[in-house]
Amino acid sequence: MKHLLKLMDLSEKEIVEILNLADQLKYEKKNGIEHHILKGKTLGLIFEKSSTRTRVSFEVGMYDLGGNALFLSSRDLQIGRGEPVQDTARVLSRYLDGIMIRTYAQEEVEDLAKYGSIPIINGLTDYCHPCQVLADLMTIREHKGVLKGKKLCYIGDGNNMTNSLIVGGIKMGMEVSVACPKGYEPDAEIMKWASENGSFTCTDSVLEAAKDADVLYTDVWASMGQEAEAEERKKIFAGYQINSDAMAVAHADAMVMHCLPAHRGEEITEEVLEAHADEIFDEAENRLHAQKAVLVKCML
Ligand code: CP
Ligand code: NVA
Repeated sequence: MKHLLKLMDLSEKEIVEILNLADQLKYEKKNGIEHHILKGKTLGLIFEKSSTRTRVSFEVGMYDLGGNALFLSSRDLQIGRGEPVQDTARVLSRYLDGIMIRTYAQEEVEDLAKYGSIPIINGLTDYCHPCQVLADLMTIREHKGVLKGKKLCYIGDGNNMTNSLIVGGIKMGMEVSVACPKGYEPDAEIMKWASENGSFTCTDSVLEAAKDADVLYTDVWASMGQEAEAEERKKIFAGYQINSDAMAVAHADAMVMHCLPAHRGEEITEEVLEAHADEIFDEAENRLHAQKAVLVKCML
């Protein structure tokens, strides 16, 4: 695997290999077994948006693997002053062994890969969040034993998370349902692909989507970059929430997931979040293990 630009680029087999390696790396870390597989390698971390989990898990992941991580805020890079991505890509390729980038346009990530000569890992764009969904699939498999045939229901904005969850879920043979307000659906091409390649539904009814779900997933109503729309979105998305009503129609043992950060009282109630905190924080922890697997697959 050269890059991780989006999950659509990976086969089911490649996803399974990443999940298996992630499980192994997690087991080894818990048992104090060190693997300095990426000794002497440096990963650049370009952030054009904020981050807690992605930044810390990539930095710690590189240290765990014996390499170095270099935090590069776009506020300080020339890219933030308009240096073209094709030049930045060629320059950074001569210093670094890989780049993780969090930015707005998916095209910027694809361009880094096109013009650079080192592995590029997508740490979130407006279009998708592949690293998060690899950790999510790992967590669901850990808690449910299998992915195939399980029903994954996403409630809320049809955003970057939704796009990646649909692709990852369908590739792994899950049934995927989405509930979102009209006009806030996930990417149209992804929905078309999902309908043609698996069991996929999109509705504006939360209870319809959540019925018999094995996993209920949500994310913020206003993503990074949509701060100006936040108040308007609170009205549009009211009711698109994981709460006791949604839990009541899902399977009795349904898991609850959130990529975090969460807004209690908006997309999820405090009560549901706290009742499922073990699952949600396992999910956050698994960012580290899943990304270490991605780093090994791309940079070794
Ligand atoms: N879930 C996630 O990507 O979190 P951060 O924005 O904190 O990196
Ligand atoms: N949809 C959210 C995900 C954060 C991890 C955002 O883009 O802000």
